[in-house]
Amino acid sequence: MKKILNVGIVGFGYMGKMHAMCYEAVKFYYSTDAEVHLYAVATTKKPEDLPVRFDRYYTEAEDLIRDPAVDIVDICGPNFRHKDLLILAMKEKKCIYCEKPLTTDLASAREVIRFKESSGYDRTNRVAFEYRFVPAVMRAKQLISEGVLGKLIHFTFNYYGCEFLDPNRCISWQSRKELAGGGVLYAMGTHSIDLIRYLIGDVTEVFAQTRTHFKERPLKENPEKKVPVEIEDVVNAQLTCGQDVIGNLLLSQVAAGSGIDFSFEIYGEKGALKFNHENANVLYYFNNEDAKEPIGGYGGFKAIETTQKYGGEAVFPPPRVTISWSRYHIASLYEFIRAAADEQPAFPDLEDAYQVQKITDAIYRSAAEGKLEQVTD
Ligand SMILES: NC(=O)c1ccc[n+]([C@@H]2O[C@H](COP(=O)([O-])OP(=O)(O)OC[C@H]3O[C@@H](n4cnc5c(N)ncnc54)[C@H](O)[C@@H]3O)[C@@H](O)[C@H]2O)c1
Repeated sequence: MKKILNVGIVGFGYMGKMHAMCYEAVKFYYSTDAEVHLYAVATTKKPEDLPVRFDRYYTEAEDLIRDPAVDIVDICGPNFRHKDLLILAMKEKKCIYCEKPLTTDLASAREVIRFKESSGYDRTNRVAFEYRFVPAVMRAKQLISEGVLGKLIHFTFNYYGCEFLDPNRCISWQSRKELAGGGVLYAMGTHSIDLIRYLIGDVTEVFAQTRTHFKERPLKENPEKKVPVEIEDVVNAQLTCGQDVIGNLLLSQVAAGSGIDFSFEIYGEKGALKFNHENANVLYYFNNEDAKEPIGGYGGFKAIETTQKYGGEAVFPPPRVTISWSRYHIASLYEFIRAAADEQPAFPDLEDAYQVQKITDAIYRSAAEGKLEQVTD
């Protein structure tokens, strides 16, 4: 018999809609005996304005979380809401799926993690770092773990978008420090940092610069009036991982022509990997042991076609069909649902997101002080 878990989605903006769509999609993509029922939503929108039906509609997130019929609390509210909602969901012993970043700053992230430890909370929990579920990234993880690159030496991670390039974009929660906690570092950089930790190892020290390119933006309610922007548009950071792997992270939300321009390069003694989200269907692999003679032999970067090759219980669409952003969310949610049904952990989890927040905190400290900073608790 199928195990059905009731999900309550908190916030029905961009990501609330995305998660609802992907929960619905899981049953098409996977042959699975664990499914989610769209049970409740907390939103100020009218039920008839939503693209899907729920059994229960709440205006207060807290009421949804306290509903005993909710098995999974899915937090898609603005960053400043995460801390209190996470703590309440842990108090209510719900499984948790939470959008990144964990919270708005390290102190509140610490509160979440201390509460988790002191309360003995042990339900399945995951933070939505969906890029771990790109098949090319999954293959990169396998190859690095197998030692195919040898000892790692250096890396570059870039993530560019252009959402804030329009100077007339109005102030929203995403550009207010007290509501978002940060700018491009939180919106996009947390994904890159999660992958740096996942693929290479924990970051120990950072040297960073941040820039706010557009220093004022109009108010939505009165576009004639401009107010100062408190969050950064660009981050440039040098990172050290483990003992001696060094690398760069460049983030921009004002990069003309960029969509989800997410890429990385990782170099080791025996080879290298390159990934660019503009062609997320392949992972480029260079094997330094390939013969380079005659006339180049077999040397050069090889494109490993990872496309939609999830394997296992993934039954739709066929593995040759090109990959897309929603597919990573579906894969992440599927794994999470399976883990929740079996009462198992689901990584990346709250603790992983806390480790990411320690690194973002060090980046902000370094940018403010203009010096090298250690990543600390
Ligand atoms: N994983 C990803 O790729 C990804 C992408 C975008 C956003 N996110 C994260 O998802 C979360 C939600 O972001 P979003 O893009 O869906 O935002 P959004 O503004 O589109 O939606 C936010 C929702 O929260 C509700 N809300 C509750 N209290 C609010 C308040 N005081 N101010 C504003 N809205 C309030 C809004 O009504 C809305 O339904 C954020 O934590 C963000 O970092 C993740």
